[in-house]
Amino acid sequence: MVTTSWLTSLLAYVAIVIALDPSKYVPFNKSQLADDSIFEQFEYESLEQSPWVVSANDKYLGLWSIEEGTNAYVGFEGDKGLVMKLPASHSAISLPVKFTNKEIPLVLQYEVKLQNGLSCGGAYVKLLTAPINGKQFNSETGYEVMFGPDMCGSQNKVHFIINRCNPKTEECEEKHLTVPPMAKTGQLTNLYTLILHPRGAFEIRINGQVAKYANILDRPHLLSPPLNPPVIIEDPEDIKPEGWDAEPEFIEDPTVTKPDNYEQLYGSRFIPDPDVVKPKNWLEDEPEYIEDPESTKPQLWNDDEDGEYVKPVIPNPKCEGMVCGKKWENHVPVVPNPDYKGPWIHPKIANPKFNGEWRPRQILNPDYYEDVRPFNFRPIGGIGFELWSMEGSIMFDNIYLGHRVSEAELIGNSTFLPKQKLESKNYELHRPKAKHEPVAPPKSVKSVSDLDDLGIFEFFRLLIRLQLNNVFDFIYDFQLDPAETIIREPVKFIAYCFGFVFLFTIVFGFGSVVMFLFTQAVSSLFSPAPPPVIKPNDEVEEETPVEIEEIQVEEPKLVEIFDDDDTTKEVRHR
Ligand SMILES: *[C@@H]1O[C@H](CO)[C@@H](O)[C@H](O)[C@H]1NC(C)=O
Ligand SMILES: *[C@@H]1O[C@H](CO)[C@@H](O)[C@H](O)[C@H]1NC(C)=O
Repeated sequence: MVTTSWLTSLLAYVAIVIALDPSKYVPFNKSQLADDSIFEQFEYESLEQSPWVVSANDKYLGLWSIEEGTNAYVGFEGDKGLVMKLPASHSAISLPVKFTNKEIPLVLQYEVKLQNGLSCGGAYVKLLTAPINGKQFNSETGYEVMFGPDMCGSQNKVHFIINRCNPKTEECEEKHLTVPPMAKTGQLTNLYTLILHPRGAFEIRINGQVAKYANILDRPHLLSPPLNPPVIIEDPEDIKPEGWDAEPEFIEDPTVTKPDNYEQLYGSRFIPDPDVVKPKNWLEDEPEYIEDPESTKPQLWNDDEDGEYVKPVIPNPKCEGMVCGKKWENHVPVVPNPDYKGPWIHPKIANPKFNGEWRPRQILNPDYYEDVRPFNFRPIGGIGFELWSMEGSIMFDNIYLGHRVSEAELIGNSTFLPKQKLESKNYELHRPKAKHEPVAPPKSVKSVSDLDDLGIFEFFRLLIRLQLNNVFDFIYDFQLDPAETIIREPVKFIAYCFGFVFLFTIVFGFGSVVMFLFTQAVSSLFSPAPPPVIKPNDEVEEETPVEIEEIQVEEPKLVEIFDDDDTTKEVRHR
């Protein structure tokens, strides 16, 4: 009996644990939402069993699927979404809806998970103008609102575009938010919310945080082109008269003429050097060679046979040491002209006959209208994704289209936030890590002991590092303001002082022991002789007389030689 009850409670416990497993998917209870709210959380067996319609248009070859997420950063187990599968292909899908928002807010919210990241492509949603034909859904299909992430390279934005039609001309224009917020990158789920109030206020939230808030009516230039057409335009029927441009804007001044000596005074870049005078030995008119006056016609010269007699020439005797026959003005050195002004330019004056630039007449814009309810849209017939993206596997989920901000917040808080938490946890576990990722030093002992999977060695290493950090922090503070630091943390100061003295003593005690041993070792190495302590020892005394004796034996030999030093020969003879 005891075992059974024990088993029962164990089973009950297991059941509770499974039931409370926080990573198990629990669908959002739609009955919490108003009847006219549209909420799609993709609880379908497959795409075929869902009301979503894939475009059969020739351009759209992309595949769609309703499935669970496939990247490593999983959220809830069993949570399905709509996935655009193929990279680099056009994909279009839509959900037929019936939705109007005349004079009431429009709230559009959905989750995007760029499971493979996104380098270039869109993940935005369109609210399609009713009626729609889902099979033919394409880029030309009319829409009222376009909203969501779009990025390519460094371009990254959350699109917000409204399509407004001029009631007078019935022409429609897409008006873009000029400074859109940045979209979230990364491979986790992000939540995008658009809130449009009928009086022109709009709000974009990303993950529940307001990313943009403004009123279009107050600031119509937030959109491009602006919300309203211009009040005054140029008259398209006013055309430029013939001959308007016949007269030039400027003419040459008739009262000014070119001075006669302009070229001479101002027109040449160089002038003869005025400081150089003609040298005395310069004989311009004297020829360099003259006929030899001493030469006469020879007797035998026959003019008929030999031609006319020409006297030979000789160097002009007057030209010795002179320069003859050269024009001085061609040889004067030149210097830059200080008055040089360049070629003469005829000054110009405004032409009194000039008509000015032609401008068409300004008139009141007959097509002007004021869009006082910029967010009152035509009936919406579908929610559509019409995308191209470099990466596939973009997942959409929890699409809300309704009139209540509170509902969007409720959905965000009960579906997105817990999902984000799970994904972040899985991200920490599975994210790509750098090989030598720097680890921030622990802030407290608790933060060290909180770390999972810590070996004992690693634990102590971190602990020592933490202590060292504390000491260095304290030393730093102490350097900045010693008194203040001591007053603030007196215990720490005393503890560190003691610690320092203690360490100092140990280090020095150890050091002096080492030094002592070292000096001992060194002295025994370099002095192998016994210590010079002389004891009255027999052996020592005996040795000394022997040496002395030997010396004494040698000394007499020397003495003998020196004794006979006077008679060197005699020594040699010996
Ligand atoms: C959903 O909520 C409603 C009331 O808000 C409740 O009556 C219903 O039982 C809930 N459904 C589920 C499946 O929890
Ligand atoms: C959760 O609810 C609060 C208000 O109750 C709201 O400010 C916040 O944006 C919500 N979070 C999300 C993710 O929707």
